[in-house]
Amino acid sequence: MTGLNNKKILVCVSGGASAHQMPELLAVLKAQGAELSVLAAPDAADWVSLKLLAQLTGTAVRLHSQGEPFGETRLVQVGGQPSEVAQAWLDELLGNLSNEPSDTTLFLADPSAVERFPSIDQLGPVVLPTETGLPLPRFDIETILAFIEKSLTPPILADRRVLVTAGPTYEDIDPVRFVGNRSSGKMGYAVAAAAWRAGAQVTLISGPVALSPPTGVALIKVRSAEQMLSAVETIIGEQEIYISCAAVADYRPAQSAPDKIKKGADQMVLSMIANPDILRRVASRPASPFCVGFAAETVRVEEYARGKLASKNLQLIAANEVGGETGGFESDQNRLELFWPGGRKLLGWSSKREQAQQLIAVVAELFAARD
Ligand code: PMT
Repeated sequence: MTGLNNKKILVCVSGGASAHQMPELLAVLKAQGAELSVLAAPDAADWVSLKLLAQLTGTAVRLHSQGEPFGETRLVQVGGQPSEVAQAWLDELLGNLSNEPSDTTLFLADPSAVERFPSIDQLGPVVLPTETGLPLPRFDIETILAFIEKSLTPPILADRRVLVTAGPTYEDIDPVRFVGNRSSGKMGYAVAAAAWRAGAQVTLISGPVALSPPTGVALIKVRSAEQMLSAVETIIGEQEIYISCAAVADYRPAQSAPDKIKKGADQMVLSMIANPDILRRVASRPASPFCVGFAAETVRVEEYARGKLASKNLQLIAANEVGGETGGFESDQNRLELFWPGGRKLLGWSSKREQAQQLIAVVAELFAARD
């Protein structure tokens, strides 16, 4: 379940081409636990079945006539090239919104709406990237969902500059083989998304993973520990908070062969050398950001985590037990244990999304209370 559970969302459907995606959006919002109502423009039925919308939301779709009050509007879908009737309706709706901004989140398919109603600019409208080259415009539903969730999240890290690392690093043996680890990136991506929802300006430096970039986050992709270090060092001077969730390889092959190593003897010995400890380097900078480490342990979790907290001079460490069947690497669930000088918080089992949200709440609290 996401942050939309039991949230009341009013979806306004205009008589425009993008109304065709409303059943998909409503089905996703419903699946996330939102309580939906639908307000439809007079000619919305030309583009989408109102019966289907009613079926998906479990409620009657209210047709809205011009001049009627709109009430509280949390989400507006503005379609491309609406008909004349829909255009008048949209103009009325947008005019209404610009008079009463409140806590409305406005999604625009057509940025020219801001020219018609300049005051809606103060709502910080989200202009949706539209897939082109199709017979009908298409929006990314995940992006809409992420922005709705953000609008419902307290901005506890508003405008803070946060750098998160995630995923494994791959250390090449030759052009076709590497030494890696089991990190999927799920935990770090969830942390980056949670920081963004909390209002931060987030950069995510990621090792090789099979995940989509989180909405709103600037993503830098790297492969090896040395590349990750170089990417971190390029921007660390601008960061206020550094969250090191990446499973950086401690060692790399002493040499990476330029060509594929051919099969030969029965045994092969790989010589490894130590990689730089990125987190230690960041935390020992003269003006270091607020540093959050992770500790992946198979035994004596608290003891080893507290050891890393002290020896790397961190403000907070999030420990997790790895190597089991659930939690830690790859899984969608985790159980973090948070330790900081003079404090601890043990989180129960939950999704990595939920764990990340709770971690960010503690980070925001400690960051606000720092010297
Ligand atoms: O990606 P997932 O599949 O979702 O799995 C999540 C996770 C288990 C990878 C994550 O929750 C986690 O524990 N990440 C840290 C993994 C790790 O490398 O832990 P460590 O105990 O070896 O390292 C301690 C800290 O130093 C970490 O913050 C690490 O990012 C950092 N480090 C380690 C080595 C190194 N050379 N440079 C570093 O910056």
